[in-house]
Amino acid sequence: MSDILIAYFSKKGSNYVAGSVVELEKGNTEVLAEKIQALILADLFHIESVKEYPNDYYQVTEIAKGELQNNERPELTSQVADISKYTTVILAYPNWWGTFPVAVMSFLEKYDLSGKKILPLCTHEGSGLGHSVKDIQKFCPNSDVVSGLAIYGHAVKTSNTKVENWLRENGVI
Ligand SMILES: Cc1cc2nc3c(=O)[nH]c(=O)nc-3n(C[C@H](O)[C@H](O)[C@H](O)COP(=O)(O)O)c2cc1C
Repeated sequence: MSDILIAYFSKKGSNYVAGSVVELEKGNTEVLAEKIQALILADLFHIESVKEYPNDYYQVTEIAKGELQNNERPELTSQVADISKYTTVILAYPNWWGTFPVAVMSFLEKYDLSGKKILPLCTHEGSGLGHSVKDIQKFCPNSDVVSGLAIYGHAVKTSNTKVENWLRENGVI
């Protein structure tokens, strides 16, 4: 039994990678989340919602912009059985317009992460963490939100050392 949860959002399919639009069989953040689960004893949770996105990258960016403007909170379709058993949550997400997708906001509002350590882990294509860490602090004022780690989506596959160092710094390895 583990007291660490890796909760992640990720979108496979058409995405912007290193300057061009490509088809990802598996989303960058999902690859990263699975990589971490192979390193440590942790439960993996895929944050999914009722919101289905078209495959086209440009359409998704427009939809995501609207979701933020409208402060949407899509209902989650996946559930964590018992959040109370975790002391640490590794929260992994892609940078969408400077922050995390609204489904992650639904997750942060649904589950009480008070008193838990949160490790923000963001994949991106140039904006780094954006303002995502500050946003997590707003959603989780009673959690210990540590320094986040940003990994270029196209560099996820070669990010082992960076990720391991960060996990070590935060006492997870
Ligand atoms: C809707 C949308 C908005 C994005 N906005 C940004 C952004 O503001 N800054 C950035 O660096 N990357 C942005 N990206 C690129 C993603 O953060 C990056 O490709 C990420 O690794 C995707 O992770 P995923 O494959 O797990 O979904 C955006 C991608 C999408 C689909």
